Amino acid sequence: MDQKDWQNLHDKVIEWIFQAGDQLRQSLSVQLEVSVKTAHNDLVTNMDKAIEKFLVGKIKETYPDHRVVSEEGFGDAPTDLSGVVWFVDPIDGTLNYVLQKRFFAISIGIYENGKGKAAFVYDVMGSELFHCISGFGAYRNEHRLPSLKMVKLEDALVDLSMTWIKPNRRIDQDIMTDIIRKCSGTRAYGAASIELAYVASGLIDAYFTMRLSPWDYAAGLILIREVGGTATKANGSSIDLLSRTSVLTAGPSLHNEIAEHIRKQVDEGKFLKEPN
Ligand code: IPD
Ligand code: CA
Ligand code: CA
Ligand code: CA
Repeated sequence: MDQKDWQNLHDKVIEWIFQAGDQLRQSLSVQLEVSVKTAHNDLVTNMDKAIEKFLVGKIKETYPDHRVVSEEGFGDAPTDLSGVVWFVDPIDGTLNYVLQKRFFAISIGIYENGKGKAAFVYDVMGSELFHCISGFGAYRNEHRLPSLKMVKLEDALVDLSMTWIKPNRRIDQDIMTDIIRKCSGTRAYGAASIELAYVASGLIDAYFTMRLSPWDYAAGLILIREVGGTATKANGSSIDLLSRTSVLTAGPSLHNEIAEHIRKQVDEGKFLKEPN
């Protein structure tokens, strides 16, 4: 696709996302059908399915040769990244959607032959759309995001998912202790796509989590790289877009500092295990 095609696509996707956002806002005043997936805090609602069906329907109707990776089963299951591949999370932060009725997003990341091309993270209740066409700047609504600045750990807000403290089989609980003691403050918003978009916007300085799926991080990674940030697995190696993975992301110097710290902890014998 050429530049004009990407611009057209960008404008269409924003229209679809705003329509989906309206449906989600309206859904908050009617009874939701909520079911449990793998655990009591892993939920899916009728709206996760309805929004995914709506978005995948639009994509397939408009771009029949594109493929879609999505959470609730309406997409395809590509095993490679050739051509144009869309990563769609219809509601990122379903637990927030059900329990808080805020802090949830629609996340869409689009890649061409494995390269990030366009990204959209729409915080529905916050009315903030983070978006970009790669190479042409990332935006928070109509405001262009500046490149990420160097931030020292002692001045940094670090966002961590709960796996750093809850006993679990992926990461030693003590690995992040020194980082937490040194940083300016911790945050956890419960919607990975928003947290990644916040890193891209400089609202938080780092985000670290031990397990995300491609539809959670595909859009956020494009936004972060557009503003000069770095995103890797916890051990510093590169993220493969078709797998579940840990994600460590920050501006370049802070990323290096945290990745070095994790590496040292692992050398000293603390365990760290990628999801499968
Ligand atoms: C979840 C959220 C959450 C993250 C989980 C994701 P979902 O997505 O992004 O912040 O910690 O790993 O599964 O299920 O609400 O779309
Ligand atoms: Ca889910
Ligand atoms: Ca998600
Ligand atoms: Ca979801």
